[in-house]
Amino acid sequence: MTADLVINNGIVVTPDAAFPASVAIKDEKILAVGAPDAMPSASETLDASGLHILPGAIDVHVHFRDPGYPNKEDWESGTAAAAFGGVTTVFDMPNTIPATGNGTILAEKHAIAASKAHVDFGLYGLLGEDTIDNVPELIAGGVIGFKLYMGNTFGKIPSPSTGAMLEAFEVVAETGKRISLHAETNSIMERRQTRLTQAGRHEPLAHLDSRPAVVAVEAVSRACILAEWTGARIHILHISSADELRPLREAKARGVDVTGETCPQYLFLSADDYARFSGVIRVNPPVREKNNQEPIFAALKDGIIDMIATDHAPHTPEEKTRSDIWAVDCGFPGVETQMPAMLTAVNAGRMSISDYVRWSAFNPARHWGLYPRKGAIQPGADADLALVDLAREWTIDDAKIQSRSKISPWHGRKVKGLPVHTIVRGRFVMRDRTLVSGTKGWGRSVHTIQQMPAPAIRNAGKTMRAVTGGIRPSPSKENAA
Ligand code: NCD
Ligand code: ZN
Repeated sequence: MTADLVINNGIVVTPDAAFPASVAIKDEKILAVGAPDAMPSASETLDASGLHILPGAIDVHVHFRDPGYPNKEDWESGTAAAAFGGVTTVFDMPNTIPATGNGTILAEKHAIAASKAHVDFGLYGLLGEDTIDNVPELIAGGVIGFKLYMGNTFGKIPSPSTGAMLEAFEVVAETGKRISLHAETNSIMERRQTRLTQAGRHEPLAHLDSRPAVVAVEAVSRACILAEWTGARIHILHISSADELRPLREAKARGVDVTGETCPQYLFLSADDYARFSGVIRVNPPVREKNNQEPIFAALKDGIIDMIATDHAPHTPEEKTRSDIWAVDCGFPGVETQMPAMLTAVNAGRMSISDYVRWSAFNPARHWGLYPRKGAIQPGADADLALVDLAREWTIDDAKIQSRSKISPWHGRKVKGLPVHTIVRGRFVMRDRTLVSGTKGWGRSVHTIQQMPAPAIRNAGKTMRAVTGGIRPSPSKENAA
């Protein structure tokens, strides 16, 4: 048998080890991993001397803004950024226009993504007060999971009441899919933002004062309680504080199927950076006091936080530089710079490269039902690889990033460790720091290969559907009441 590609002389990295090995690829999949002389003949070979071969990162939290905000990003620019960041699969959030809340809109987004994506993708369905009835059509249309906004953020998606949230969890629990939560409690931060505005606070740090960690602690705790009651699987997005770790740890200990992510901004940026970056650093949840960084790092190491994602949230320079902090759009790009930022920490000895692979690829694949098709370098897995030069030093320059959003608090940061080639299902999409032409539209939705464990429903006899016999008010009656 002749392989399509054999990669020689690199160091293969798994969650447990890093070892010299060759990798053979055929028909989009890994055919063999082993000694060079054990490799089949190949149509093409690549000399990966000096490079580490990582499973491509799986970023379960990006906002590619398409359809809706072409000035900020689209599927082409967003996935080009992913390719440059060594990211081979992204999960896109539903706060696009229109929000991804029913089967028709989902089908349109699938078509857009499939026509433009350089890397593989999954699409989230919106789980809101008014979309609970749409869960079956969203499942049928192919979502990777659901997103529920407990607090307002960019896109002004209304946060559901706790009552609606419980019902939403009941319904999704039956499907086995995971629900990702923007876990910030709306009423606390809205009230504080109003009072801060009245008090004349309009400078960047007012944003942090409107969302102290208790905003997240309350939301994480409440979400875990509802997940425990219903058996819903949940994922806590963008963990930003040390205080959230206790409810997360306790819920895990109680057997709740809850996973968590943090993002580079909560590991490497702090309240000390607001003066320098002004509104550019505004993000939800906020970048917090420096003393949160070490506990978050430690939680990754002990497995309380499962993975690294980016919350890649691009906006235009005009939207990020308004003088009133409350008028600045929240978020900044990150899908392209996550891997270099994290590899810099590997180089600094803060964790091993295997730790990084566990957080960036292995755990996301496992918890989202994609392992071992994704997140693994072993025969039969999709050949999704990031070939990185751990020794390469580089300064992040917003002007040179692929994302349409050329403004971020990563600008000027010195990093060490850079993806030089990215391979998606056997095909180079980024090679020698250049986008490979003809790869637009190569990306595919991964919902077709997702296999979540069987649902583990709890309190089935007490669900809204069980106690009402599934009888729902007609919309007109609901309005009348
Ligand atoms: C995100 C965005 O811009 O879509 N913004 C952000 O500050 N994180 C929304 C989100 O993930 O909360
Ligand atoms: Zn969010």
